[in-house]
This record gives sequence, C-alpha cells and structure tokens, in this order.
Amino acid sequence: MAYSEKVIDHYENPRNVGSFDKNAEDVGTGIVGAPECGDVMKLQLKISPEGIIEDAKFKTFGCGSAIASSSLATELVKGKTLEEAMSISNAQIVQELALPPVKIHCSVLAEDAIKAAIEDYKAKQALSIK
Ligand code: FES
Ligand code: FES
Repeated sequence: MAYSEKVIDHYENPRNVGSFDKNAEDVGTGIVGAPECGDVMKLQLKISPEGIIEDAKFKTFGCGSAIASSSLATELVKGKTLEEAMSISNAQIVQELALPPVKIHCSVLAEDAIKAAIEDYKAKQALSIK
C-alpha cells in the first residue's frame, strides 16, 4: 500500500507528541481505542478560560496512519474554539492525508479523540462550578 507523503511526514516528524497533566483544570483528555486493530490514541487539549484551544498533545500506540491522523489533529485544533474543534470531521483528515479506505478508521480515532477530550474538559468544568 502506498502512503501519501503527508502521512509519511507526520509519521516521521510527528507534531506535538507528549502529555499534559491529566488532572489539570484546563486540560481535557480523550483516550480512544480502535476495535478493528486494538490501537489506542490519547489526545489532550489545553483550553483557555475563554474556551480557546491553546495547545494539544498526543500519544498514539498504533499504525502509521493513526499516528499521522493524531499528529494532524493536534495541528488542526490549535487556536480553535471548542465548537469549531467539535466540528472537525474524520473526512477532513482522510482528505488531507489522502488515506486509503482500509485506513479510514484511523482518522475516525482522531475525530473521536478530539470529541472525547472536549467532553472530558466540559465534565471537569461542570464539576468545578461551586
Ligand atoms: Fe496494527 Fe493499527 S493495525 S497498528
Ligand atoms: Fe487501526 Fe490504523 S488505527 S490500522
């Protein structure tokens, strides 16, 4: 299978690999797994009080396309509002990386991880309202 240059670039030079403190008030963490292959993706967002995503990090145990999808996802979300980030779809990732059909679920993982991270952040904020 031929990978696009963009997949190989993100795979070889992944952007924003790492972690934030998952207990920090301003961090949302999304951990999702792909039933198709057992791969796991962790994506974290650092969110300003105004609801802007200031920074993002990921760790992915998975295939090259999953790593490239999460790397691209961290770049796509930065500077966006939570609403804008919620509307990022896996189709956008598929298109930008030119993923082949068997690798589409890798991009779904990235979309799900963004949404899970935002949900985690919102749940934390709800808890912290006294
Ligand atoms: Fe093996 Fe995704 S199927 S890493
Ligand atoms: Fe399963 Fe890529 S995440 S093959």
